[in-house]
Amino acid sequence: MNEDRRLRALRGRLLWFVGDPETSGDAAHRFIGDGLVVIADGLIKAVGAASELLPTLPEEAEIVDHRPNLIMPGFIDAHLHMPQTQVIASYGAPLMEWLNKYTFVEEQKLAQQGHPEKLTRFLLDELLASGTTTAAVYCSVHRQSAEAFFAESERRNTRMIAGKVMMDRNAPAALTDTAESSYADSKALIERWHGRGRQLYAITPRFAVTSTPEQLAAAGRLASEHPDCFVQTHINENQAEISLACQLYPNADDYAGIYRDYGLLGRQSLMGHCIHMTKHEWRAFAEAGAVAVFCPTSNLFLGSGLFDWARAKREGVRVAVATDIGGGTSYSMLRTMAEAYKVLQLQGQSLSAFAALHAITRGNAVALGLDHLIGSLEPGREADVVVLDPAATRAMAHRLETARDLAEELFVLVTLGDERNVAATYVAGERVGDQPSTPPFLAKSI
Ligand code: GUN
Ligand code: ZN
Repeated sequence: MNEDRRLRALRGRLLWFVGDPETSGDAAHRFIGDGLVVIADGLIKAVGAASELLPTLPEEAEIVDHRPNLIMPGFIDAHLHMPQTQVIASYGAPLMEWLNKYTFVEEQKLAQQGHPEKLTRFLLDELLASGTTTAAVYCSVHRQSAEAFFAESERRNTRMIAGKVMMDRNAPAALTDTAESSYADSKALIERWHGRGRQLYAITPRFAVTSTPEQLAAAGRLASEHPDCFVQTHINENQAEISLACQLYPNADDYAGIYRDYGLLGRQSLMGHCIHMTKHEWRAFAEAGAVAVFCPTSNLFLGSGLFDWARAKREGVRVAVATDIGGGTSYSMLRTMAEAYKVLQLQGQSLSAFAALHAITRGNAVALGLDHLIGSLEPGREADVVVLDPAATRAMAHRLETARDLAEELFVLVTLGDERNVAATYVAGERVGDQPSTPPFLAKSI
């Protein structure tokens, strides 16, 4: 029988979401203590109790026994920068200084032959080792960086969103394009990659500070010509950034107004940070259906501020969560949510383990408008799956000796967890981890 057509079934403790725990409570999640995820042709065919599904499987079906590990949908990261894997952990600067001193220096190296390929391979290895199977990715200003990223993602069959950065001012000359060239390059990339296999394109004006009005207009034109592409950019991260953006666009109502004026604030818009938002801006986001992307480790590391999760929800704004590598400091969405919890605690808010795990699976899938494809273990979804061992570290195994129920176990996982808890990752039903630079723990037998 053809390899692709053979049934594969993953056995373990299954957890996924059918709603938002913050609005639907316990009805939002599904948990099966001994379950099977049946996979064929890269898709989930059936999910349910092992006792019910095992007798229905043909003899040649491959059963991978992951018990007692948890099986969840692969994690989704809504914002990160491929060129910044060697910028992560750069010392002592707030946003604008950090960009000039570290980021723009490293990003120039992506003009070198082979460098985007090298960084992409590293990034995808690291994401998959962390259980992240989909991400929205900024490449560099160089068209080749996006070519390299998509080619490698296609080779691995990962569902990725990415785009070439558009940037035509306030950056080193070697990192700038023009309104015309950025339009032409982005258009060519969209035509080549958007919707090819599992690849999706994000029109990527870096932020208002590094784009002229002509370039934002070009980005807006692309967005109107390709309404199913994403738009990704940054907004309201840091006071110096906000002042500069508003100075550069004196006719706009506010920072959100800049993007709205150029047709860049809509349902496909992934707006990084959204920390210092006015009431008027929250309303503009809610009206446009734009997504506020919460990047907790980055916001703490760069000293940018505290994202107001409860306010966003109260204002009816769609929210996603992300690492923002390399302003962010961890590739792990578990670690990201541990920091999100602390950011909320500092504001008198709380985040349950169910809400955190929802955010990095179904929550982000809904925010990206991809919940019909990913983020769930329901039949018909693409079989991107992470297998988690909540007792992978000594400290976690020790702490779990006193955990009384699933909620407590999951809270330990979210608070202390990271890539060490990832026992296996499956992309479209295929187990990954045979990439050369993947840490050995992914290759260990179960
Ligand atoms: N604003 C504009 N560019 C960037 C970036 O690369 N990282 C972060 N955190 N903020 C930005
Ligand atoms: Zn960013």
